[in-house]
Amino acid sequence: MLMVPDKIIADWQPHHKDLFGVHVIKLQHRLQDTGLFTREALGKVIERCPAKELGIESVSFEGEQHRRVYGELGSTSGIDAIAAIEKGRIWMNIRRVMDWAPEYRDLLDRIFDEFDDRMDGMKTFKRNLGILISSPNCKVPYHADIQGQSLWQIEGVKRVFLYPRSEIFMPPKNIEKILLRETTEDMPYRGWFDEHAQIIDLHPGEMITWPLYAPHKVENHDCLNISVTMEHWTKPIWNAYAVHYGNGVLRRTLGLNNTSTRDHGIHVYPKAASALLWKKLGKQIEGDVVKTRNFRLDPTSSDGRVAV
Ligand SMILES: [Fe+2]
Repeated sequence: MLMVPDKIIADWQPHHKDLFGVHVIKLQHRLQDTGLFTREALGKVIERCPAKELGIESVSFEGEQHRRVYGELGSTSGIDAIAAIEKGRIWMNIRRVMDWAPEYRDLLDRIFDEFDDRMDGMKTFKRNLGILISSPNCKVPYHADIQGQSLWQIEGVKRVFLYPRSEIFMPPKNIEKILLRETTEDMPYRGWFDEHAQIIDLHPGEMITWPLYAPHKVENHDCLNISVTMEHWTKPIWNAYAVHYGNGVLRRTLGLNNTSTRDHGIHVYPKAASALLWKKLGKQIEGDVVKTRNFRLDPTSSDGRVAV
């Protein structure tokens, strides 16, 4: 039986309703009280995770060059996998947990029903819950996400850099690239951007959410990090997607520039239609399906992995 506290967000204030999705907000959460995020519980989740939803990655250095390498669990237990990640430079992405672990589906629904209740009129859909377990000092480069996003810290500390949602930090053309999946969501970044970033050290029991398409990067402190990522869609987020997606298609097919990115009004509908058409034409670049595995998690190895 799932032990869900009465409210998952502990310090919600009425004004957060106006800030949600528009500004960066940091709130206190009670995910740990559910018992679903202890190392033991997560070890079991790792073992239950279908192979296609378990992303294990690291970096291999060859002289000056480095390349991304992919790992597998093999016969390593879930709890040992976490111990291996704690020693190495590895990140594990446990995707779409709600699809194959019903207790996390129940929790996800409770959380977004709570948000919907507290923000009269908001209706979230396509809710998604993933768990990210990453090594000390791991970094996620500058990028933006295509849907509403929140980050919930369970163990360890990570520094989140959140940049202004403006055309300087994320031009519409780059958002289109992300939506059309022409990029892996990494974006051009300049060191001086950091002077304009809001920098938040996220501790266990804290969550943050930020404006749609706001660019961000993340740096783990020198400790294992366990975080939960949640995604959601709302009608305005869908409209923004349709507009940017449609603009991207128009730019590519008709060479149109100066397209409007307002996400409401009559112009949304033809653009939504062109978004659908484009998808139908199958012009999207599909995400790579990783077949080669380079290493296996191993907590007895000094860097938490052995070659396969
Ligand atoms: Fe992100």
